[in-house]
Amino acid sequence: MFDLTTKYMGLTLKNPIIIGSSGLTNSTADIKTLEANGAGAVVLKSIFEEQIMMEVSSLETRHLAHAEEADYVRHYTRQHKLKEYLQLIENTRKVISIPVIASINCISASEWVSFAKKIQDAGANGLELNMFIMPASYKQKGEDIEQIYFDVINEVNNQVSLPLALKISFYFSGLANMIFNLSVRKIDAIVLFNRFYKPDIDLDKMQITAADVYSTPDEVYLPLRWVGMLSGHVKCDLVASTGIHDGYAVLKNLLAGAKAVQVASVIYQKGPEHIGVMLKQMEEWMKKHNYSSVREIIGKFSQKKIKDPVLYERAQFMKYFASGK
Ligand SMILES: Cc1cc2nc3c(=O)[nH]c(=O)nc-3n(C[C@H](O)[C@H](O)[C@H](O)COP(=O)(O)O)c2cc1C
Repeated sequence: MFDLTTKYMGLTLKNPIIIGSSGLTNSTADIKTLEANGAGAVVLKSIFEEQIMMEVSSLETRHLAHAEEADYVRHYTRQHKLKEYLQLIENTRKVISIPVIASINCISASEWVSFAKKIQDAGANGLELNMFIMPASYKQKGEDIEQIYFDVINEVNNQVSLPLALKISFYFSGLANMIFNLSVRKIDAIVLFNRFYKPDIDLDKMQITAADVYSTPDEVYLPLRWVGMLSGHVKCDLVASTGIHDGYAVLKNLLAGAKAVQVASVIYQKGPEHIGVMLKQMEEWMKKHNYSSVREIIGKFSQKKIKDPVLYERAQFMKYFASGK
């Protein structure tokens, strides 16, 4: 018998496989199926600050005669969306026993912050903030962008006492420094990393299209490197996300120091039954290597623990350059 339990953001998970925020976690029925197939926790689909705003502007409010009338429609739409989300938390919590982590996509410390309290009251076990400010403006300094992250954490902590995770991208000029600075704030975990919509160009149709929505297994090396380098140094839990498609990728990230992992693409592609396959792969490996618990594995290969820490930082294929291959 293997002990797969792990402690992540103060919550005890029966195993380290969390279903990441996505359409997979947008209904109580689907979440029940994920739980039945072995998921350790779920992060609900995000409420998007942008999405709420877009829905409002897509309603044709300009024809409304009075400004108050337009305001009412905007307010109603927001409340409605929020109500649905709170209902999802409440209903799901009633019927499942694994932790339910709510998610808000945010880009500022503004209006949505008051939602956080309602999310807590609805019974969520934790809150994940999915934050990304595209550093695309040549006028906006990196430190100004970073300050927004700190402000958001402060504002949310003023509203809630829920375990808090921050899901970020790798678009920071001083990534390790920024992650460390985030980790000393009042947060319980950092999710490394979100994966975004990627623009592509269709050469036949001559138009901008979306690249693949789903990750591939070789994308796992990005979180693996950063989890490995930072897990012994930061002051909060790290959870790996992106490119985790099998039990072996889970194990690698745990060895690097992640307390848990998040998966989305592979569950879209292979269905919820794949959670069981991943857990079985983990157990078989643990048996072969004489591990009885996930706790013994976590961080065994973090940069802090290995003899040659440079292995995580190596960036050039020196051996290949030197041999002329
Ligand atoms: C269809 C789809 C929808 C997603 N929606 C969200 C979302 O609402 N909020 C969020 O934080 N991440 C969202 N994600 C990102 C995933 O949670 C995850 O971080 C990302 O896909 C990388 O993990 P993966 O390689 O296992 O897919 C979505 C991903 C996919 C594929």
